[in-house]
Amino acid sequence: MEGLRVELGERSYDIRIGQNTLDALGGAVKELKASPTLALVSNPTIYALYGERVHASLTAAGFDVVEIIVPDGEEHKELLWVERILTSMLERRLDRKSLLVALGGGVIGDVAGFAASLYMRGIRFVQVPTTLLAQVDSSVGGKTGVNHPLGKNMIGTFWQPSLVWIDVDTLKTLPQREFLCGMAEVIKYGVIWDRELFDYLGREKNKILSLDPETISHIIRRSCEIKAEVVSRDEREGGLRAILNYGHTIGHAIETVTGYIRYLHGEGVSMGMYLEAALSERLGIMKSGGADEVKRLIDDYGLPSGLFDGADATAMVDAMGLDKKTVAGTIRCVLPESVGKVLVNEPVTREALMELLASL
Ligand code: NAD
Ligand code: GLY
Repeated sequence: MEGLRVELGERSYDIRIGQNTLDALGGAVKELKASPTLALVSNPTIYALYGERVHASLTAAGFDVVEIIVPDGEEHKELLWVERILTSMLERRLDRKSLLVALGGGVIGDVAGFAASLYMRGIRFVQVPTTLLAQVDSSVGGKTGVNHPLGKNMIGTFWQPSLVWIDVDTLKTLPQREFLCGMAEVIKYGVIWDRELFDYLGREKNKILSLDPETISHIIRRSCEIKAEVVSRDEREGGLRAILNYGHTIGHAIETVTGYIRYLHGEGVSMGMYLEAALSERLGIMKSGGADEVKRLIDDYGLPSGLFDGADATAMVDAMGLDKKTVAGTIRCVLPESVGKVLVNEPVTREALMELLASL
């Protein structure tokens, strides 16, 4: 198994990446020296595929496993399910040295991680991400939380996992559309940080789409390295970590105005990445042709890059004004200078955004 470390002083942890490694999870969790009763949080879809193997591995390592199953879907990433997880753990008398294992995509990781951060003022937890998005992004970095009727991801904590255990074989059962959403985040790392990764994604598209294990492990590892580096330098998003929001200012606005039904998150991000590159070009920050280069890679992966028909520019800019990333009314974007190099947290006027959207 390949390993890398997120360096955060006493909150440092390992990310382990391998193939067919779910049966070895129990041994790794045992090394964390926890109480014998442990919570395993998942959803019915993922549990049906991988739950028994994970459960058996944890049991073989000596744990008494309390299964907590949250229904599948973003709409269940809510406080109600945090409370239910906490209640199950209290009923089964988990203590302050107990561990929680989150088996699933970003929804399970976020909601279970949030519950772990609250239980008895915080217990340790292990991320076992099963979507590409969770393997390259959400399982690393310690952002946990749930949605509120007044806004997505508005309630949450920074609470780092104690271990991230990535079995790339779990991607074999992931629906293609979900896989591509993860690819949007991988393309993001190329644009914000690593020209070589960006070129690799163009060159190795066929191997990536056919889930060649070495190629997939490489892009997951490189993505995790970049995220680990960013988070180690700015855990709580005081500055640099906002680099990870590339494509997300416009992407979130697209998700909001289309009611979170039409596009998955990664699709909104891929449109946002092209539009923010186009904005950067219009503002003279990115050299001419740069946005088209970003668009080509997004298109190659069959992700959306243009703006959808009938988009209401005013509604989109209003949505950006209400985003978490907007502070004191100033909308901020990550604007590429070139592939591999970006400006973080650039203030952008409503007028510039309206002109961009009108130009498409
Ligand atoms: P998800 O967790 O909803 O998973 C997508 C779908 O795939 C679900 O239906 C799930 O049951 C299914 N699934 C998961 N693994 C599978 C597998 N191996 N085989 C078959 N089906 C599988 O979605 P996601 O894209 O993983 O995560 C999105 C969430 O992550 C959002 O709530 C978003 O806000 C959050 N997020 C958090 C961070 C962070 O830093 N914490 C970063 C990015 C996104
Ligand atoms: N997904 C953005 C972050 O973790 O900061």
